[in-house]
Amino acid sequence: MEVKTVGVYGAGLMGRGIAQVALEGGYDVVLYNHRTPTLEKGVAGIKKGFEKKVAKGKITQEQADGWLGHLKATIELEDLKDVDIVFEAMVENMALKKEAFAKMAPIIKPEAIFVSNTSSLSITELAAASQRPEKFLGMHFFSPVPAMKLVEIINAYDTSEDTIETGKAVAKGFGKEFVTVTDVPMFIANRVMCPMMNEAAILAGENVCSYEDIDKACELGYNLPMGPLKLADAIGIDVMIEVMESLYQETADSKYRPAHLYKVLYRAGRLGRKSGKGFYDYTK
Ligand SMILES: NC(=O)c1ccc[n+]([C@@H]2O[C@H](COP(=O)([O-])OP(=O)(O)OC[C@H]3O[C@@H](n4cnc5c(N)ncnc54)[C@H](O)[C@@H]3O)[C@@H](O)[C@H]2O)c1
Repeated sequence: MEVKTVGVYGAGLMGRGIAQVALEGGYDVVLYNHRTPTLEKGVAGIKKGFEKKVAKGKITQEQADGWLGHLKATIELEDLKDVDIVFEAMVENMALKKEAFAKMAPIIKPEAIFVSNTSSLSITELAAASQRPEKFLGMHFFSPVPAMKLVEIINAYDTSEDTIETGKAVAKGFGKEFVTVTDVPMFIANRVMCPMMNEAAILAGENVCSYEDIDKACELGYNLPMGPLKLADAIGIDVMIEVMESLYQETADSKYRPAHLYKVLYRAGRLGRKSGKGFYDYTK
């Protein structure tokens, strides 16, 4: 299926990033958010993204203005009716996402494809609620979307081959590299990365080496740009507990139980960078 117009449901961090790369890819974009302030913030974020590129000489002002001319920002769901594909990028909540797809289903043209950018929820469960499961897939972007090259393309149980091919073409159109995977908990990158980070936190709890040396070993031994404890602080200790807890619940495999030290830090109010302290102290 040929995609010309891209819809984005949610103008938060991920939604505005997806809208930006779609504009840069030459698509018409309809960006929806149910609240005006978030929508305005989203549009401002896209403009800022373009301004930075103009300042760096990567694009011209005319190019930026041209792209912005293809953006329609709206709080009316009806405005999504003619899109060829819609990316859901709203809050990570199964019930709210299902409700959003159920609301979009009768409005958006039947041949359009529905996409979720969820990080952790079942694509198959969302697809079943979308009323068009064969035209449903997951496309998991990474943050910040304009800078990160990867998209994971996830097929749900009923996703058609044509839908997957369209997803691949759109990912390319957005200037991204993709990988494909069947709907499994946490897909590929997070499925590998999060247990590795959890293991680092388990080791940190054994008091056999310093936090700094765990990060240093991973940074210098594997050329990681950031060690796993620093990364957990950046993501948020609360998020790490949630992620590991959901993987543990879903698989019933004890190897995924959240590191006890994550829980200790959480109880101490040390949520990572956002609270000023996590494994490390950022207040100094
Ligand atoms: N942040 C990341 O690094 C990242 C990476 C990959 C995928 N994701 C996924 O992307 C999605 C969005 O995450 P984000 O980081 O952009 O979050 P965000 O908090 O920046 O944005 C959340 C969006 O949800 C909307 N929203 C909140 N409550 C709503 C409601 N009741 N009805 C309709 N819309 C509502 C908000 O208006 C906003 O547009 C989530 O599913 C998340 O798991 C996030």
